[in-house]
Amino acid sequence: MAQSKLFSPVTIPTRRGDGLTLRNRAVLAPMCQYAVEARDGIPHSWQLVHLGSMAHGGFSLLHTEATAVAAEGRISDKDVGIWNTEQEQAWAGIVDYVHGHGARISIQLAHAGAKASTYAWLPGEAGQGRSGSIPRSDGGWQTVTSSDSELYGLAPAESMTREQIQRSLRDWAAAAQRADQAGFDAIQIHGAHGYLIHQFLSPLSNRRTDEYGGSYENRTRYLKEALAAISEVWPAQKVLGIRLSGEDWVQGGWGIAETVRLAGELYDQGIRAFDLSSAGIGPFRGPSGPGYQIPLAAAVKQSLPADAFVTAVGGITQAVQAEQVLVTGQADGVSIGRAALGDPQWANRAAERLGAEKAYPPHYWRGRW
Ligand SMILES: Cc1cc2nc3c(=O)[nH]c(=O)nc-3n(C[C@H](O)[C@H](O)[C@H](O)COP(=O)(O)O)c2cc1C
Repeated sequence: MAQSKLFSPVTIPTRRGDGLTLRNRAVLAPMCQYAVEARDGIPHSWQLVHLGSMAHGGFSLLHTEATAVAAEGRISDKDVGIWNTEQEQAWAGIVDYVHGHGARISIQLAHAGAKASTYAWLPGEAGQGRSGSIPRSDGGWQTVTSSDSELYGLAPAESMTREQIQRSLRDWAAAAQRADQAGFDAIQIHGAHGYLIHQFLSPLSNRRTDEYGGSYENRTRYLKEALAAISEVWPAQKVLGIRLSGEDWVQGGWGIAETVRLAGELYDQGIRAFDLSSAGIGPFRGPSGPGYQIPLAAAVKQSLPADAFVTAVGGITQAVQAEQVLVTGQADGVSIGRAALGDPQWANRAAERLGAEKAYPPHYWRGRW
């Protein structure tokens, strides 16, 4: 069989330097673990084992779970963060381990905005009445957003003042600086799924009347300013990426035409890795099923210069399916989420199916795939 595209190496370019070379194009999607029982945002043994096992499993680039740039930006109180030194140091150990097993690691920097301060989405929580916003009496906190909206069905969020916006831009930059110090190879800005950045982008959630709301230019301003703040501290030799919701899947919402336009502008601002997801603002849902978001990645890929690294995500579970996405030029890589939770050796199993070389630790040399 011809050499597998999925298992061909790829280099994501950077603003300066040689770029970041990945051993294959099977990427681990960012996935919240809600595992910080101490509620201090510090990653610990769970994150090490979780991400370490994915490095053992042959993935080339691992995205961390959404990692909050500020305490109030956590989706739940069990989220990880990178707003202080202890968190940075704990991440550094995990980064080293992943590097020691041939994978690269990208931190997903996130702020949940109005969707913060909610109970962890874990089995058993809702049964005990723990779903939706955490009340103040149980440790919940005041959330912030572009402009408050009923769409989330959560406790009301404060519309951010200009001072709060400025402060949060500093949070993005400080988190990026810590991510660099922790040794991360890449940043993925979480601009998707109805979280703070998306709350500014979407006309459904952003009803501001100042320079951060209204027109496309104004709704994209917060993201572009956050990106500019990050770029000032994030080394030009390292990869800058973003995850966007390509569609709100509702009339009058954020859509693929705006996404394509924004992707081009972000490319010009230095972003080279684009991960195309969808939805998250309010109750609106689009298609689901095998490869349901691939057309969004394809649209962005077609519009960008050839050196952009565009990943498709969502309902990609089979080796041949992933190979087809790449061979047909719809994306440059695939992000694997739930299939990796079910099988951390997903990438090695796919390599076996496609007759490609696996990447496992020597201790597993007698394994069977
Ligand atoms: C348990 C779980 C946690 C997730 N957490 C995040 C997250 O932290 N950040 C993010 O951008 N997407 C998150 N997602 C979405 C996944 O990255 C992915 O886009 C989605 O699951 C669709 O891909 P799949 O069909 O391969 O699972 C999460 C998904 C799951 C299943």
